[in-house]
Amino acid sequence: MATRDSWVSNIGFVLAAIGSAAGLGNIWRFPWLTAGNGGSAFLVVYLLIVVGVGVPGLLAEFVLGRRGRQTPIGALRSLTASRWGSALGAFNVVTALVIFSFYSVVGGWILRYMLVSPSGSYFGQPQAYFGTVSHGLQAVAFHLLFLGIVAAIVFFGVSRGIERASKVMLPAVVVLLVGLAVWTATQPGTDAGYAFYLGFDADYLAANFASVLGPAAGQALFTLSLGTGAMLTYASYLEEDVSLPRDTLVIAVSNTFIGVLAGLVVIPLLFSQGIEPGQGGPGALFVALATAFASLPGGAVVATAFFGAVLLAAVTSGINLLETPVGTLVDHFEMPRDRATLLTTLLVAVTGSGLALAGSIFQFVSGTLADLLLTVGLFAFLAIVGWLLREDAVAEFRVGAGRFAPLAEPWLWLVSWVLPVVVLFSLTNTLTSLAG
Ligand code: PFF
Repeated sequence: MATRDSWVSNIGFVLAAIGSAAGLGNIWRFPWLTAGNGGSAFLVVYLLIVVGVGVPGLLAEFVLGRRGRQTPIGALRSLTASRWGSALGAFNVVTALVIFSFYSVVGGWILRYMLVSPSGSYFGQPQAYFGTVSHGLQAVAFHLLFLGIVAAIVFFGVSRGIERASKVMLPAVVVLLVGLAVWTATQPGTDAGYAFYLGFDADYLAANFASVLGPAAGQALFTLSLGTGAMLTYASYLEEDVSLPRDTLVIAVSNTFIGVLAGLVVIPLLFSQGIEPGQGGPGALFVALATAFASLPGGAVVATAFFGAVLLAAVTSGINLLETPVGTLVDHFEMPRDRATLLTTLLVAVTGSGLALAGSIFQFVSGTLADLLLTVGLFAFLAIVGWLLREDAVAEFRVGAGRFAPLAEPWLWLVSWVLPVVVLFSLTNTLTSLAG
């Protein structure tokens, strides 16, 4: 077999993984969920889950990837020495394809908003405009454009495509968001937004802890790209003996920073316009933001910068989702990368277009189904690391871990006992919402 592509540097891997984590989940889903779940109360629970579950979970996926040195099907097959491993890997690949299908549709909306923002042409009727953007043939067209951008990067491979793109795009996202957050702070009427977002309301938290837990757990898993085999895939391209625990911490902290930063832009802006955030589902954020941009001085410029940042963040997540099936075809079926990229892209072109045309299925796939597949995938990863591999997993954790090495045993304990319980809770939560 030809040698596998790999990261040129550890920093390239770290930036690509932060790029994967920081995406629509941070800038679109996170502020919207936060605003709908009591602001700071949600933020606190979410941060706790990121630290307690997200970080050890991400580390588990990295351990599987670097130990397996293959995309999910091959890695899990060799690590479990069982066909069930291949089946799970195939399940992961399907999960990545499902998520990418709706992700690319939303990516298309963002691309469209960014392109029209300089003219501000939607400022007059934000609600009606969102209708045109989000459904029908126009939504299909922009989904295909977004998909084309992502595919062009993946086509060039891990080091020449993904790593190079991440090194430019991720810093650009941060610079744009910092600029926007500073600008937002200068706008009048934002105080209530900051208070809601950053003020700590213990009473609300005590009264609503259980209901905040479910969405906070779901968001923590989604934002760290867990459970799809996508992070496993990225870690499989690591060649050096880098410290996985250190990289995991850097990735999780940076990702959280980007989410909180996005919240510092979105939530105060909505409050400054007297818009009640968090109501009316995911589309409401677009309408509310468009309304806010329309009435702010320099709104067209700010809107362009904002949607530009979201677009870049969405692209760096999309490449991870697309790389998972593409890398699998390359690894497992020894298909040339160009053909693998073309084939997968055509498939997603079809599935995504179907979703763009069918609104009700879109809701189901982007909400419930995505959460369901992620949690099942992550649960299986935890079971493999915590119950099957055990000593091997600890050994892999320790490779290059330096001063983090003593944490390997406590980490394994968390992965074996605590994380599966939280993930099962999250799964039950998804299933109940499905039944309800
Ligand atoms: N973490 C990405 C976000 O928050 O937007 C979404 C994502 C990317 C989920 C890659 C899963 C994945 F495999």
